[in-house]
Amino acid sequence: MNEEKLAIEGGARAICELGPFPTKIGVDELLEILDMWEFRPENAAKIKQIIESENNLKGPHLFRYYNPKPSKVAAAEKAMADLVSTEYCLAVNSCTSALVASYRALGIGAGDEVIVPGYTFFATSATVVSANAIPVIVDVDETLCINPEAIEKAITKRTKAIVPVHMRGAPAQMDAIMDIAEKKGLAVIEDVAQAGGGSFGGRRLGSIGTIGCFSFDYYKVIVSGEGGFVTTDDEWLYTRAQSWHDCAACWRPDRYAREQKEGELFCGENYRMSELEGAVALAQIRKADGMIAGYRRAKKMIKEAIEKFDGVSFRRLTDEAGDAGICLVMFLPDADTTRRALEAMQAEGVPAGGVYDSKVRDWHVYYYWEHILDKKSVAPDRLPWSAVPESELPKYSQDMCPRALDLLSRAIIVDINYNYSDRDCAAIANGINKVLRAMLR
Ligand SMILES: Cc1ncc(COP(=O)(O)O)c(C=O)c1O
Repeated sequence: MNEEKLAIEGGARAICELGPFPTKIGVDELLEILDMWEFRPENAAKIKQIIESENNLKGPHLFRYYNPKPSKVAAAEKAMADLVSTEYCLAVNSCTSALVASYRALGIGAGDEVIVPGYTFFATSATVVSANAIPVIVDVDETLCINPEAIEKAITKRTKAIVPVHMRGAPAQMDAIMDIAEKKGLAVIEDVAQAGGGSFGGRRLGSIGTIGCFSFDYYKVIVSGEGGFVTTDDEWLYTRAQSWHDCAACWRPDRYAREQKEGELFCGENYRMSELEGAVALAQIRKADGMIAGYRRAKKMIKEAIEKFDGVSFRRLTDEAGDAGICLVMFLPDADTTRRALEAMQAEGVPAGGVYDSKVRDWHVYYYWEHILDKKSVAPDRLPWSAVPESELPKYSQDMCPRALDLLSRAIIVDINYNYSDRDCAAIANGINKVLRAMLR
């Protein structure tokens, strides 16, 4: 019989050390990532050589939790909370996720209504449906954001929240919206996907309503490829959003703790941000104010250089100083002139686009949201529509937001780049003036 003393009884350990092993993610993965940056070939070769010469390289731990190193995602959350000025901030993998987590944190579910604008990316309202609630679609005004009067008219006994979307960089009418919400006891979820870093009345967007939802997908103001953030001053909503974002109330902060308060434990999904996106987001958040200053400067130069034309107006801004400045929106007299002017501007090289053309499908306009207008459901239970008597469901139709369709069919949107030089701005304004002079004078 082997008489060796067991380690548990003070004997020598059978295993002193395993390994060393290379970390799971190392040189090969780093080289793939670097391949996405377009280094000059001679520099790429030098970088590759340096990386490959590294012995025992300790690679990153790309999961935000259990990370032996300080988490980039946690640092990005802190930076975002500081930027937006909220107590709490949760990183997620998209704004779509941020919206669902917010609706869920607020306890919104079957039979509840959420008021959304008819002009927004479809995700704002699709997520209401995926949270099993009913989107009530209302009109916008010349701000191209939700119209507060239309909100008031749409409120019913089932309404739980209003979702103002700060479209194309510009703040919605947050003073009027907050007044309505307060009067009616409703939550306000700001969809800041398109206006990260913007503000209203000196307060950052995403800090005015009950919750703010941000997108960091590649087409947004501040980006990490994919990604999103939830911001709030409400600790309970943060706790519930955090639970929803990691499937089973994992981090409160004790992963396996029993419920300390009714409503803390439930089953959620997985919206975690990875450390790769966290690292990119962190660097971007640090640069946000510089980029926004660039957007605003370029937009101002272009706008001021555009001549006055009869029948041409700019989008009404609720707070010009708070506009993130990512685009300039002009309304022309009618849809046909707009289409022709847009084509002519594009031919001149102006970075302009249209929004709504009844022949071009685009999920930024409610007109094409058949998923909602036709009350589609993912399952035979027909939720969310089956939770409410048919006669009490909102009446959806393609012409229910006439102001949105009129304004959007007459809108030309000029994209702004924060790097535009004075010469670029002058050239763009010149291209716009040239076309409008030829067509409208
Ligand atoms: C207004 C608005 N809300 C939500 C989203 C969804 O963002 P994400 O792509 O991060 O899910 C977008 C994206 O286009 C958007 O424009």
